[in-house]
Amino acid sequence: MNDQFKSVPVKSSEITPYTQYLSRRDFLKAAGLVGGSALLAACAPKVADAAVPENEAGDLPQKFDELGDPANSFDDITHYNNYYEFTTDKEGVAGLAQELTVSPWTVEVYGLVKQPKTYGIEDLLSKFTQEERIYRLRCVEAWSMVIPWTGFSLASLLNEVEPTSAAKYVRFETALRRDEMPGVGSPFYPWPYNEGLRLDEAMNELTILATGLYGQPMPNQNGAPIRLVVPWKYGFKSIKSIVKIELVAEQPATLWNSVGANEYGFYSNVNPERPHPRWSQATERRIGEFSRRPTLMFNGYAEQVAHLYDGMDLIENY
Ligand code: MTE
Repeated sequence: MNDQFKSVPVKSSEITPYTQYLSRRDFLKAAGLVGGSALLAACAPKVADAAVPENEAGDLPQKFDELGDPANSFDDITHYNNYYEFTTDKEGVAGLAQELTVSPWTVEVYGLVKQPKTYGIEDLLSKFTQEERIYRLRCVEAWSMVIPWTGFSLASLLNEVEPTSAAKYVRFETALRRDEMPGVGSPFYPWPYNEGLRLDEAMNELTILATGLYGQPMPNQNGAPIRLVVPWKYGFKSIKSIVKIELVAEQPATLWNSVGANEYGFYSNVNPERPHPRWSQATERRIGEFSRRPTLMFNGYAEQVAHLYDGMDLIENY
């Protein structure tokens, strides 16, 4: 691992020196990880580089996923982000997202359910046992990380509101705050960001609502105060800063599917054999590593989820 990727344990009062910030940025550039021509990696006007705390968490224990791979550092996970409501510049998100007001926060769960309810974030944190899940996150842009999330199963929340027999899909929506999110001025995207899952995908044991990482409350840039994590799908399905969860009968429209249906399918299961129309999905670059590694079917979670797609053509249903 390159030294520039290692997190330096610092007190929350300390700030990343600007020179260190720049050298890390140069390294990312050399590794081809800044910019790019993908729609999902569209270039945006440069934003001012904001000084942000390097590592709010102090000394952190080394963690590993179930395949034995080390988790990325807190610094990697919180300074290389996709959150287009703020900016398409991955390293600019951390600074801009500090403007997001995350308290008070409510999540409305409604639609085809017997017990619709609006939860305060504090209700969700106290009512549902928060547990650690160390998952790989594979972005459709062909980079990946290992992230130690904390959160709870989406199924436990859905069971509480009791979906009716007509409910077949779940639709999620991110907060839309024009005064706090400079990126939503972009006319290219149909805000608010929204996503969807089939009900059985939503109920799968792996699907969580994450409220933190590395044992810390969720950083704003990672989707505070609550975001979805669906580890066998490309990262864009894991929608951030959720305010609405709606149970519906029909497959819902989603932001990325609306802007490029041939590139971003509704399912978007990680599949090394189905190339994106503009690049291969056979390999990926783990942030912090130089050489590429093979991408695993369902991002390595086939045992837990392959049965959801029995009999389906996964090239056609991408
Ligand atoms: N959610 C919202 N609301 N807006 C976004 O731009 N980007 C997605 C996903 N969730 C995104 C989002 C993409 S493309 C990825 S890869 C992951 O968030 C990145 O999550 P991370 O920044 O926590 O690593």
